[in-house]
Amino acid sequence: MATRSGKSSSSSNRRNNRSSNRSSNRANERSAFSWGDSGALVGAAIAGAAIAVAANLGRKAAMQGMSAMAGDWDEVLAAEHDATLLVFDKLLATDETQTFKRTMLVKKLTHALDKHAHEEEHVVYPALREANEAHDADLLEAEHGYVKTFLYDLNEMDKASTDFLPKVREFRTMIESHARMEEEQVFPRFKQALTEAQNARITSLVNKEGFKMA
Ligand SMILES: [Fe+2]
Ligand SMILES: [Fe+2]
Repeated sequence: MATRSGKSSSSSNRRNNRSSNRSSNRANERSAFSWGDSGALVGAAIAGAAIAVAANLGRKAAMQGMSAMAGDWDEVLAAEHDATLLVFDKLLATDETQTFKRTMLVKKLTHALDKHAHEEEHVVYPALREANEAHDADLLEAEHGYVKTFLYDLNEMDKASTDFLPKVREFRTMIESHARMEEEQVFPRFKQALTEAQNARITSLVNKEGFKMA
């Protein structure tokens, strides 16, 4: 399933690359045979836009490809937990003079956690509720609300503040215990009750939602 979606992404990427090459050739033809430069400029702009679209699709495919290679939905999500904890560790290794690095790492953390929450909130937690695991799904989703509160605080906070690292540390502890509950209790119990087809379907949907947010 993951391999199939990877192939279709890369083939659509190839299609886009081909179309950008065609646009680029057309731009060259116009610049060679037209009297003014405006045609060439328009052609170049179209080619540029096509290249930008292709580059964006390529970036998304590469990002989601890395997750999709991790295997089943629970392995994809566990790999994202690990990657997120590494960003926390990088943040904790900064000092108050590295405000730019802190800003960039907080942005990276925000993007990673937004994508991860999107996958869980649009696929895994609804599936949990349908399998009579609403109590855990509601508890985990409520914790995602506090994840957003921590992200809001860190994004708004003065990056040179002495409160910055204690806030990051508190946030990391919360994320670690949330991830542990998912990886060690909720997800294995849920996965055990799934048929192979249901498991494959959830993996496919998690990859699809992740691709939207990559
Ligand atoms: Fe979660
Ligand atoms: Fe998670």
